[in-house]
Amino acid sequence: MIETLKANNRRWAEGKVAADPGFFARLSGQQAPEYLWIGCSDSRVPANEIVGLDPGELFVHRNVANLAPPQDANYLSVLQFSVDILKVKHVIVVGHYGCGGVTASLRGQRLGLVDHWLHPVRDVAHEHRHELDAIENENARIDRLCELNVMRQVRNVTSDLVVLDAWARGQPLTVHGWVYSLANGLVTDLNISVSRPEHAAPLA
Ligand code: CO
Repeated sequence: MIETLKANNRRWAEGKVAADPGFFARLSGQQAPEYLWIGCSDSRVPANEIVGLDPGELFVHRNVANLAPPQDANYLSVLQFSVDILKVKHVIVVGHYGCGGVTASLRGQRLGLVDHWLHPVRDVAHEHRHELDAIENENARIDRLCELNVMRQVRNVTSDLVVLDAWARGQPLTVHGWVYSLANGLVTDLNISVSRPEHAAPLA
């Protein structure tokens, strides 16, 4: 029921003000998040909640299969604004195990327009087909492709001119790759964090 959402909203806003009377006044003045989250649109992966951050603390970009495609104006605008204007210190690409977009890409399922969007994931699957084919269990194969996809997106971010220019002028910026587990609510750090252009090369 849509009315429930409005009632929830009123209760949420009242709760925030009760805990911190200046909360909205302060936030409406400016935002100064230190993190950009690039994650999947999946309803089970709520960015702020997972990492315990309040409004104002996390700049968020979500799309199907958490992609950072180098020609996508939406993603590029978010990246450029958050790095150049907000000066976030961390960009976190967050995939999730069991991702529907990744699953469809691996299985070659036809879902519609989204199949075009998922083209880069099929490319990653093709490039890593030998490793993926060697994994017998399908869920494990999907989960590995979720990881490989995050690695590729981290590479996209770290090779983008916005990020390279930020590093060139000495701006502190680290790009991370994580994968979230729907099964236990925990993120796994893929330990591929990159803070300098010369460390950006060897990712999937
Ligand atoms: Co997903």
